[in-house]
Amino acid sequence: MADPKAQLKLMGSKQSIELPVRSGTLGPDVIDVNQVGKNGVFTFDPGFVSTASCESKITFIDGGKGVLLYRGYPIEQLAEKADYLEVCYLLLNGELPNKTQKQAFTNNITMHTMVHEQMSHFLNGFRRDAHPMAVMMGVVGALSAFYHDSLDISIPEHRMMSAYRLIAKMPTLAAMCYKYSVGQPFVFPRNEMSYAENFLNMMFQIPSEDSKPDPVLVRAMDRIFMLHADHEQNASTSTVRLAGSTGANPFACISAGIAALWGPAHGGANEAALNMLEEIGDVDRIGEYIKRAKDRDDPFRLMGFGHRVYKNYDPRAKVMRDTCHEVLEAVGAHDNPLFKIALKLEKIALEDEYFVEKKLYPNVDFYSGITLSAIGIPSTMFTVIFALARTSGWISHWIEMISDEAQRIGRPRQLYTGADTRDFVPIDKRK
Ligand code: CMC
Repeated sequence: MADPKAQLKLMGSKQSIELPVRSGTLGPDVIDVNQVGKNGVFTFDPGFVSTASCESKITFIDGGKGVLLYRGYPIEQLAEKADYLEVCYLLLNGELPNKTQKQAFTNNITMHTMVHEQMSHFLNGFRRDAHPMAVMMGVVGALSAFYHDSLDISIPEHRMMSAYRLIAKMPTLAAMCYKYSVGQPFVFPRNEMSYAENFLNMMFQIPSEDSKPDPVLVRAMDRIFMLHADHEQNASTSTVRLAGSTGANPFACISAGIAALWGPAHGGANEAALNMLEEIGDVDRIGEYIKRAKDRDDPFRLMGFGHRVYKNYDPRAKVMRDTCHEVLEAVGAHDNPLFKIALKLEKIALEDEYFVEKKLYPNVDFYSGITLSAIGIPSTMFTVIFALARTSGWISHWIEMISDEAQRIGRPRQLYTGADTRDFVPIDKRK
């Protein structure tokens, strides 16, 4: 059967351009505009609102129905039944691991959890009050200066080795950033612990006491990692792909992804959402903030609300809300005032005409801040944890892109609206 086609007809021109229409497994068809440029026009889509930037087999979102699938598996099922390392394997390889594959994968990760000792000297160069995201961008980018033996991106084994190293070292580096900021000694990784337990241990263990992370908090942390592992072509993943399309090494690309994630419209929203709930401070003040969020002249937005793709409840937010509940119970904070404000705020917003009409629902960041805070994690580390978890998604996309033989450098075009061609004016003749 011939490809279905769309036709692009420019007013005033006799010619029309035939464009192939492609269908994926799920989701809307796409009009392939790749050849439009050869006809002397470009397509214009700031913010990529209507543009699919690549073909991918990793993650699918149906924003209207509130569906999120990793390699076809619903996020709710994975969050309940899998663990983060299984999800990493799934994202990287396309299938869930069997027992032997899972054991081998876990061994590969634990074999790389330590970082080069020189890294701690490098980290020591930062100010102790630096934002941990600033430090993470630096130290993750710097991994390319430490692991030269896996940087040939044309070799599949090197690509996979970089993936193992990144997934394994992110918790170690994230915990080091935290320990550095509070002036405590770094804690070495423990390979007999699970991924999430090891992370919490490196965050909170101190040499003067014997302690082990609470299993409820470990499970919650693991679920937070799974919920944040991938989200198809979001701003940071697209950044990783764009940086990677130039042939840059994976550590540099992930560092670019961390930079893109930092902004409050993206990964920084979890920190901003908690700050907002603290600022509201009392359920009686919710109305005032809802009013501000609706005021076009006020730049204030309800943080943790709204999404470019979800026009329904973010499925991650539902799991996050339940996890938040479990964590608050476990730490004896079921009366947590911020959680009460969040629940009430959500209820009011979901019934408010403005939010209903614009289809603004809570996103994953709405409840993740309260949960992380109850686990004992300071708000400046929230986005670092998002970056740690998203590393598996970023590196899976990077591998998918580099393995694609049709891959080319990403090079968007523009609609130029600057000055027309003009002659140089010597300085003494300028106004
Ligand atoms: N509070 C109040 N109004 C909002 C909000 C909000 N949180 N989000 C969107 N709107 C309004 C916005 O003012 C606009 O109104 P109008 O059509 O009258 O101009 C309309 O809804 C559409 O918003 P938009 O900014 O055009 O939508 P977008 O797709 O460009 O932005 C967003 C999506 C997530 C950046 C935005 O909803 C937002 O700023 N939310 C708060 C920040 C946040 O929670 N971000 C985390 C996203 S989820 C985690 C992740 O994937 O990184």
